[in-house]
Amino acid sequence: MSDKKDYQLDLIHRPRRLRQTQSLRDLVEETDLKVSKLIQPLFVVEGDSICEPIASMPGIERLSIDLLLKECESLIELGIGGVALFPKIETALKCNMGREALNPEGLIYRAIRALRKRFPELTIIADLALDPYTIEGHDGIVEMGTSSPLNDVTVDILAEMAVLASDAGATMVAPSDMMDGRVGVIRKTLDANAFESVLILSYAAKYASAFYGPFRDAVGSVSLEDGPSIDKRSYQLNPANRREALLETSLDELEGADILMVKPAGQYLDIIRDVRESTILPVAAYQVSGEYAQIMAASEKGWLDMKACRDESLLAIRRAGADIILTYFAKAYAQDLS
Ligand code: PBG
Repeated sequence: MSDKKDYQLDLIHRPRRLRQTQSLRDLVEETDLKVSKLIQPLFVVEGDSICEPIASMPGIERLSIDLLLKECESLIELGIGGVALFPKIETALKCNMGREALNPEGLIYRAIRALRKRFPELTIIADLALDPYTIEGHDGIVEMGTSSPLNDVTVDILAEMAVLASDAGATMVAPSDMMDGRVGVIRKTLDANAFESVLILSYAAKYASAFYGPFRDAVGSVSLEDGPSIDKRSYQLNPANRREALLETSLDELEGADILMVKPAGQYLDIIRDVRESTILPVAAYQVSGEYAQIMAASEKGWLDMKACRDESLLAIRRAGADIILTYFAKAYAQDLS
């Protein structure tokens, strides 16, 4: 045994002592991943008993309202924090002005009403943007031949959408358009219509990311087969910029946002950390469709372990400072825990 002594380093600190057993590892674990912190994004379509798979997002489907109700019942049983709804409307209903967005009988408002009636306590997040409603798939009103949405005209429409979504029963409205000044106008309009309790979850730092491709396919705003993706750089943030995210989040906070969101999540962990340290408001992060698709595609090929990568990716987003995560993995993660 004196031999062994010769090999023993004279160390004061041996960090591995803390990692010897699962129990010790659990005791010193710094970040947790509760199901109640996760929001499941859901895609809604017209019809009855419709469940359309989305090729680029294995495991995610577009659901008609009847099946959406069933899905939410399961999600509530699993303890999910809430749902974020996105409509895929019929092409015939799209126009340059995105008029269907202001139809109180439109798909998304009917979906919210049905959910609210059945589940009084469910946290329902209504996305505010025009991309499901315009022919070009831009988030706002675009003049012919240009690709830059008109800011103030679009903000007016978003505020009207916010009222319709609140009237239908949304818990939160979530402007995802990146127009200037929309949070302030939406807050004022909601208050003027006696919706002072409806929250604003602002997509405050939303980047012009290439990772939204599968989502655009899912809501039918741009087809993946159309080739190069739509250019939203005149309103979404430049991926090279860090300070600009803080400008956006601080403006949204001043305008009255209740929760600030960073999007995408995995490629923007530094931004999540920056925002976390610059506000006392809750911070959300959106693990977007492309982040989901990457993990699913590689694991279908047998190149990655889906569950391990899923959990690691979500934990990293929490560790960076997100209180809330919007993720397509929410349901599957919750099922694996229960
Ligand atoms: C648009 C919107 C997008 C997403 C949510 N809302 C796409 C875009 O900006 O083009 C992306 C979500 C995802 O990729 O999962 N209002």
